[in-house]
Amino acid sequence: MKIVQTLEDLREERSKMTGPVGLVPTMGFLHAGHISLVKQAVKECANVVVSIYVNPTQFSPTEDFASYPRDLDRDAALLKEAGATLVWAPTDAVMYPSGYQTYVNVEDVTKVLEGAMRPTHFRGVTTVVAKLFNAVQPDKAFFGQKDAQQVAVLSRMVKDLNFNLEMVVCPIVREKDGLALSSRNTYLDTAQRQAALVLSRALRKAREIFINGERESQKIRSEMEKIFTGEPAAKVQYISIADTQSLLEVEWIETQALVSMAVYIGKTRLIDNTILGKPDPALDKSSGLVL
Ligand code: PAJ
Repeated sequence: MKIVQTLEDLREERSKMTGPVGLVPTMGFLHAGHISLVKQAVKECANVVVSIYVNPTQFSPTEDFASYPRDLDRDAALLKEAGATLVWAPTDAVMYPSGYQTYVNVEDVTKVLEGAMRPTHFRGVTTVVAKLFNAVQPDKAFFGQKDAQQVAVLSRMVKDLNFNLEMVVCPIVREKDGLALSSRNTYLDTAQRQAALVLSRALRKAREIFINGERESQKIRSEMEKIFTGEPAAKVQYISIADTQSLLEVEWIETQALVSMAVYIGKTRLIDNTILGKPDPALDKSSGLVL
């Protein structure tokens, strides 16, 4: 496994690859969630490129760009073990050269949920991912369902800008107790880590009542809110029940809906989600439910 920084070195390595190329974009400080994407890519592609870049344009000035955890040596060791072929860890000067002024903007689907709370976030994500796609020219790109809106926005971008690649969406990896893995979990102290279980507990509740026949979003949402009332350390920013593609709120669930949420535990903002009407083994198993 090689590690390259510059575009020139990346292009040289890319030109030597034969067979399908998979790309796994990351911001590093890898955990088992990221590694699950790499392993899926290794299964599907002869060559697996992992990009590691903490992208400044997707953080607002009040967010945690400066303190975002970074550890390239540890990441490289994990990626080698997982079977990645090439790591691309560009510098800011490579990604945003002096005088930079070009951005990719996806419209409606970025205006709700995370986009409503973080108005400049998705412009940064789509811009950097478009640049990663252009540079690596992958056949497949692997993303986690953990960031459900990111998947919806990038899938729209791929269609709209005619990127010649397949988006592969991988399931959310959770701790045994249900907490979705996230680099930001490192910010939680022991009591907060325990309090953070309220997110997956609320999602399990939503799945349970959906499986028992409830289709009215407001009823599902109010059952979830009750679960949050029991956890004073958690401050809910939003709970959404929305169409899986447009991400617009639905009042009644016909077949499937994305239940997603953002919750503050102390100063740490956590997101989590599940798709009702689709199996979600990591949640259903630990809740004792069978679909
Ligand atoms: P990052 O937060 O590092 O996540 C990289 C990829 O790992 C994303 O596709 C994310 O959805 C996935 N991931 C994170 N936690 C996961 C979990 N518990 N289970 C499964 N997959 C998980 O998302 C980004 O970086 C950036 O926005 C990026 C796309 C790299 C653009 O800068």
